[in-house]
Amino acid sequence: AASDPSLVERARAAREELGDRAFVLGHHYQRDEVIQFADVTGDSFKLARDAAARPDAEYIVFCGVHFMAESADILTGPDQQVILPDLGAGCSMADMATAQQVDEAWEVLQDAGVANTTVPVSYMNSSAAIKAFTGRHGGTICTSSNAKKALDWAFTQGEKVLFLPDQHLGRNTAVLELGLGLDDCVLFDPHKPGGGLTPQQLRDASMILWRGHCSVHGRFTLDSVTDVRTRIPGVNVLVHPECRHEVVTAADLVGSTEFIIKTLDAAPAGSTWAIGTELNLVRRLALAHPDKTIVFLDRTVCFCSTMNRIDLPHLVWSLESLARGEVVNRITVDADTAHFARLALDQMLALPG
Ligand code: 13P
Ligand code: SF4
Repeated sequence: AASDPSLVERARAAREELGDRAFVLGHHYQRDEVIQFADVTGDSFKLARDAAARPDAEYIVFCGVHFMAESADILTGPDQQVILPDLGAGCSMADMATAQQVDEAWEVLQDAGVANTTVPVSYMNSSAAIKAFTGRHGGTICTSSNAKKALDWAFTQGEKVLFLPDQHLGRNTAVLELGLGLDDCVLFDPHKPGGGLTPQQLRDASMILWRGHCSVHGRFTLDSVTDVRTRIPGVNVLVHPECRHEVVTAADLVGSTEFIIKTLDAAPAGSTWAIGTELNLVRRLALAHPDKTIVFLDRTVCFCSTMNRIDLPHLVWSLESLARGEVVNRITVDADTAHFARLALDQMLALPG
């Protein structure tokens, strides 16, 4: 599809016809064939803000995954419609925390007597229902670019944090950025009674981490880092905080997709980098910086398959449908869920800086 000139032409024509009525957002993990049609590109945080900043666009076409489109629907006006070009573009991490599991977990915390001192902090990569749970219980959403600020804020509101659903982002931020110990963190397994923890363990912990992870970033290992350092002496290792703790600890730098892009923009010519994040982005960065050597941290790790569901044929289909007044693949969040999810999203947007 990438090289199909007729599809590129059709996307261009439909995009032109829609003009300012449509605004196309593209996450950094999207395919090149799609990203070329994005009006803005960004990490999850930037895209949430950008979606909210376009009140005049009738259609927000979200080239990303389902939870991002849901968040855009929550943050945009009632007359705006959010479109996800392929409904199969979900996120396996977001699916690891269901509303029912999280409600049950909260009961476990109540039984242990810690719910009233616990503040939920939920990663953007979660369903609208989980965001609503977070808002109902006075918590905040965070992304990989503001997780430290979110945790700093949460610890002014309560004594403990329930971090959902990415254990790695939660642990990495708590230990490497807030200075908590690994033993201040416990892992709550929704598939085990009581989360697999005793009430005393829950009482002793500062961070209650949900047992969720990203199926892409979770595949980078400590060996990935040691191997690349052997292969390329002097290489700078830069990884996303969804990677395992031992990977992040062994890396030189850690940050969100936006941080990764800015770091490479600022890197001196001739420098060498191994990047531990999704492959579409790493490939694009390597092409954009011919004066630097940029390699993928581990050649056995591949694309995010759900991000890749959004391809040029789906984008063309959705743009052409919109251009002839037919709304397809609209993502909506019901009013009650949206109300409480918005409290948590607004709390994130109000974090300092
Ligand atoms: P960021 O774009 O916020 O770094 O998140 C990465 C990610 O996995 C999104 O799904
Ligand atoms: Fe979800 Fe991981 Fe894909 Fe991001 S990269 S959308 S967290 S599966």
